[in-house]
Amino acid sequence: MGYGESQQDAERTPRPENVPADLVHDLDHWNGPDYLADPIGFWDDLRGPYRVFWSPFHGGFWCLTRYEDIHEAFQRADLFSSRITNIPGREVRLLPITLDPPEHTTYRRLLNLPFSPARIALLMDKITDRSNALIDDVIDRGEFEFMDTFAKALPTGIFCDLLGLPHDEVKKFLEWNYIILHVHGDAEGQERQRIANEELGTYLGDLVAERTSRPHDDLVSALIPLEIDGRPITRDEAVSMTYLLFLAGLDTVTSALGWCWKFLAEHPSHRQQILSNPAIIPKAVEELLRYHAFVEDSRTVTRDVEFAGVMMKEGDRVMLPTSSACRDEAEFPDALTVDFEREPNRHIAFASGPHRCLGSHLARAELHIAMELWHQRVPDYELGQGEIRYHGGAVVGPDCLRLTITGVPA
Ligand code: HEM
Repeated sequence: MGYGESQQDAERTPRPENVPADLVHDLDHWNGPDYLADPIGFWDDLRGPYRVFWSPFHGGFWCLTRYEDIHEAFQRADLFSSRITNIPGREVRLLPITLDPPEHTTYRRLLNLPFSPARIALLMDKITDRSNALIDDVIDRGEFEFMDTFAKALPTGIFCDLLGLPHDEVKKFLEWNYIILHVHGDAEGQERQRIANEELGTYLGDLVAERTSRPHDDLVSALIPLEIDGRPITRDEAVSMTYLLFLAGLDTVTSALGWCWKFLAEHPSHRQQILSNPAIIPKAVEELLRYHAFVEDSRTVTRDVEFAGVMMKEGDRVMLPTSSACRDEAEFPDALTVDFEREPNRHIAFASGPHRCLGSHLARAELHIAMELWHQRVPDYELGQGEIRYHGGAVVGPDCLRLTITGVPA
């Protein structure tokens, strides 16, 4: 939805007393045209003038901009609670992401094993086969749309394998995912979200019930017998964990693939580094994740506190944009240059602290394998025709990315 001036004014929350007038700055991370024009570069001009600012949109929220503060806020669950994970947001129990320690620790421990490097290594062949099959589909096409054909299809396929979801229902899963995570704004959008949430909840509830009576060799079946404090987890707990994995796992790798391929299509010299030395791929992936960190996390202040030089009040909402943190010159010299040899590279694209991404090993495995196979088979490509559109929200990324294949090995 486009925003005219008058509509923006209507949506502004009056500045509370604890917010200094010179720290008010507009950020509408869902619909703001200035933000959506470049949701990652948007922050680059803000980190200098604002260590922290307050945006009047979406009920009003603080926004930290610098690595050191964002990193600290991720560690300080005592000051910054995860009980609401979005701006705007409402309190829902999504296990384990909306829990704070020590309760969070109990649930998180349950999920660490199925996402450990050793378990993820068992998926390598599937990731390889799926990547190759998707490349087969596009390699002769010339120009094609990358997000639908590759960036969504790869993680969704792997996710179905992992959770034991039927592959022929992928279209429905992607639709639910998109509506829940990326549609925001008017009453119609909110109603679509409500319906999608309800349908997904029912679907996953049925799935958990079915796997309880007939376990398969999949992650949902593996969750059901888990125990917390000596009792089996409840059906609602299993549904909640599955629901979170569904939202966290499908969309993030899609965004990462979109950002990485856009960059590589525009920068042949970086692509050449991958072609001439594929061993650099793990470092290239880390650097591209740093440069395009795309998760805009948020927290709720637990008590009145001075932080980043301002007085935050209990209940204030705070955005922790990883995209801004990861391009902060104070932590990453020459931060706006992509350097595959960057050392050290302590990026926080996967956040840090207790909620650090559970799926980082899976995400990395998908990105490494996709990048290697793609460049073996499709070394030369460039951006195709048409504008690149982005979605905002908590996970920002391209909606549509047209690529043209300009050369494949004989
Ligand atoms: C490049 C891809 C990915 C990125 C950049 C990413 C980023 C993040 C970030 C920043 C958080 C912290 C959220 C917070 O503090 O509120 C997070 C948490 C989480 N991620 Fe990821 N993620 C990615 C892929 C995945 C995948 C593939 C999965 C699972 C299949 C996954 C599952 C989760 C879960 C379950 C949490 C919550 C952990 C907790 O609360 O303890 N993520 N991720």
